[in-house]
Amino acid sequence: MKIAVLKERRAHEHRVAASPDTIKKMVKLGLEVAVENGAGQSASYLDEDYEDAGATIAKTAAATMKGADVILKVQRPEPSELKSMPSGAHLFALIDPYRAGDELKAIADAGLTAFAMEFMPRITRAQSMDVLSSQANLAGYKAVLDGCANFGRALPMMMTAAGKIPPAQVMVMGAGVAGLQAIATAKRLGAIVNATDVRPAAKEQVESLGGKFVAVEDEEFKQAETAGGYAKEMSAEYKKKQAALIAETLPKMDLVITTALIPGRPAPVLIDEDMVKSMKPGAVIVDLAVDNGGNCALSKPGDVAVVEDVTIVGYHNVPSRLAADASMLYANNIFNFLSLLVDKESKDLAIDWDDEIVKGTLVTKDGKIVHPNLVPAESSDDKAGASAA
Ligand code: NAI
Repeated sequence: MKIAVLKERRAHEHRVAASPDTIKKMVKLGLEVAVENGAGQSASYLDEDYEDAGATIAKTAAATMKGADVILKVQRPEPSELKSMPSGAHLFALIDPYRAGDELKAIADAGLTAFAMEFMPRITRAQSMDVLSSQANLAGYKAVLDGCANFGRALPMMMTAAGKIPPAQVMVMGAGVAGLQAIATAKRLGAIVNATDVRPAAKEQVESLGGKFVAVEDEEFKQAETAGGYAKEMSAEYKKKQAALIAETLPKMDLVITTALIPGRPAPVLIDEDMVKSMKPGAVIVDLAVDNGGNCALSKPGDVAVVEDVTIVGYHNVPSRLAADASMLYANNIFNFLSLLVDKESKDLAIDWDDEIVKGTLVTKDGKIVHPNLVPAESSDDKAGASAA
């Protein structure tokens, strides 16, 4: 069975879907691996490293995929890439299904059996395949560093002969995987950390990291988590109360990291123009939700904006800014998924279509879009979370 590892072609993407280590493991499983020339370069993996691990290097994407049974990618293929993808091949990638529009249908039309890695159910058995967690964790860390790089002050308290520097006040909005790592990173750097979320489970997690939990804890808050562990869209009334609390808190903050997401919906806008203008001069907002519409109304996607002395950082694809580590972890997630689908004796794919990991991630098959959350007639308030335990 042949595995193809392609170079990424979308803007702002520096990651790669296989590492020399995962290629060694694939070869050990008896699989043949072809890597497109230069595929790992921007993630610090050289073609020689892949060759030493047992892969062959192909000159073009088409040559890499010739006769491939499985295609490994980070991002959803561009429509132009689909032309050389062999019909019947299995594609593993971040498909971004809710925003893929016609491109999802094009993947189905190309005859690909596609698995959306971001739909991985949040169950114990799938933890080692959970790409959202592996990537969000790095994004949360990097967001704090990006914030510091744009902040004209230090984070820790410093007592010096020349005077005392007070500790910075940090606010993390959205305490999921990225938010919790941002809290831990800011704490390690000596800041005083506050955090907010709409899920009640977040409170204990924030406090266990030494953060102060700031949220409207009413009846709606107590019901705000889906069966999959994700946030729900909150009512207009809750949003109003939450906005009032945030408006009160933000003027005291030096660095704000926003990570709030709702699966299948645009990111909630938590910081409006007036709130930005109420902040201290020199304060920094890092909006990690920018690729999903943004948590701050004034974020400029892909850019750093300055509004009345408040800096708003809106870099695209933050995990890719740590491409080496992000690729290493993503490649491990992908390998763990692949090895679940391979029969170790025949060294061929032996997919159990009833396995909840397979059902949860499968988005196209036999020329059709098949995931229940994506079939047009269906609607659910849990979207991706519906497939999680
Ligand atoms: P996410 O990336 O979908 O969202 C980030 C955070 O934003 C979430 O904590 C969410 O509650 C919060 N949020 C949404 N709307 C908000 C609003 N209006 N105001 C403030 N915060 C808002 O979430 P992520 O990081 O994927 O985590 C979701 C859950 O899954 C968490 O409970 C996490 O601990 C859990 N999880 C479970 C795993 C497992 O069991 N294997 C693995 C990874 C995560």
